[in-house]
Amino acid sequence: MNPNLVDLHPYPFKKLAKLKQGCATISEKEHISLSIGEPRHPTPNFITKELIKNLHELSTYPTTVGSHKLRKSIAEWLDQRFKLNGNIDASNQIIPVNSTREALFAFAQAAIDRNQQAPLVLMPNPFYQIYEGAAILAGAEPYFLNCEAKNNFIPEFGSITKEVWDRCQLIYLCNPSNPTGAIINKTTLTNLIKLAHQHNFIIASDECYSEIYFNDECPPIGLLQAAVEAGYENLGHCVVFHSLSKRSNAPGLRSGFVARDAKIIQKFLHYRTYHGCSMAPATQSASAIAWQDEIHVATNRMLYQKKFAAVLEILSPVMRVEWPHAGFYLWAKTPIADTEFTKRLFAEQNVTVLPGIYLARCTNNVNPGKNRVRIALVASFDECIDAAQRIGTFIKDLEN
Ligand SMILES: Cc1ncc(COP(=O)(O)O)c(C=O)c1O
Repeated sequence: MNPNLVDLHPYPFKKLAKLKQGCATISEKEHISLSIGEPRHPTPNFITKELIKNLHELSTYPTTVGSHKLRKSIAEWLDQRFKLNGNIDASNQIIPVNSTREALFAFAQAAIDRNQQAPLVLMPNPFYQIYEGAAILAGAEPYFLNCEAKNNFIPEFGSITKEVWDRCQLIYLCNPSNPTGAIINKTTLTNLIKLAHQHNFIIASDECYSEIYFNDECPPIGLLQAAVEAGYENLGHCVVFHSLSKRSNAPGLRSGFVARDAKIIQKFLHYRTYHGCSMAPATQSASAIAWQDEIHVATNRMLYQKKFAAVLEILSPVMRVEWPHAGFYLWAKTPIADTEFTKRLFAEQNVTVLPGIYLARCTNNVNPGKNRVRIALVASFDECIDAAQRIGTFIKDLEN
């Protein structure tokens, strides 16, 4: 077996299950889970209907590159959403993927050149754990960039040494961030694109939370938009990952895409031909119409806005917690150690959150997840309010 498999860390939810093992709750209230980032708003009917309508397509093998109809729909969405001025070609710059998780993993396997000296894959810390596993199994070393309150949860790219940039072959961005909700601004993205050209690395920008934001006037900027605005019209070194899981409340559809730098996309497509992971035809048809519709996306955003407003009204007086810029997580400070907080909250109030240290690694003697918990506001409005009230009671009890 691949010896690097032993270097994979247990998934955060496995650690959470272990933490809760043998810990019974004394609460008689229903359990509320706010630990997993699984969208639970209903999937729009028109998507489900289109999926069912196209089930007869099961009798054909789909191609890896997907249907032109789907790629065209994605290209139009990208162009309009990120103001690309037509700088996207559906024929050779987009690959549909079975959601971003598999694609983020697979991308590193195709991108890393193991023959180069000590390859590095840079990533934020805390981070989505797939980035780390992808780097390890691609034969590279993960290099963590701490995201802390003191730097507005944005990595300090300016403090990275030339030696690190020279060894860097790939950098994962999570923009907007899971779990902090931070958004990387245009200037920082532009500087990063410049560095990618200078040091010849690829920027893989995971933008699967880009459509869950709270200021309708100012949607989060994406990597491709920053590149076009800065005059990098061939969008070299830039690859973005988008998903219908969060945007369209369809995590079970397993649908997303990877787009842009044409040379990289064509090589990744070649890799995926062997990988054998084409998207089911009915999923492609349902996805094509999902990318064309913005009404359900705006409704979805409104549901999150309502939940954040109500939950923060309850939590702000009792704990240090702020509106994120985007995404559906609160990255809250805990008055006691995050693991202890999680365990006791479950025991006393039957509410589950995720300890921050499970989402980050200790780097430069700091674990940026220490004394924080991730609270995913994915449950229904009423459940989120109920959970917030129980968290409030729990914290007040701690203080007494
Ligand atoms: C930051 C981030 N990227 C990617 C994913 C994967 O989402 P999907 O595979 O459903 O597109 C998730 C899922 O929670 C995530 O939080």
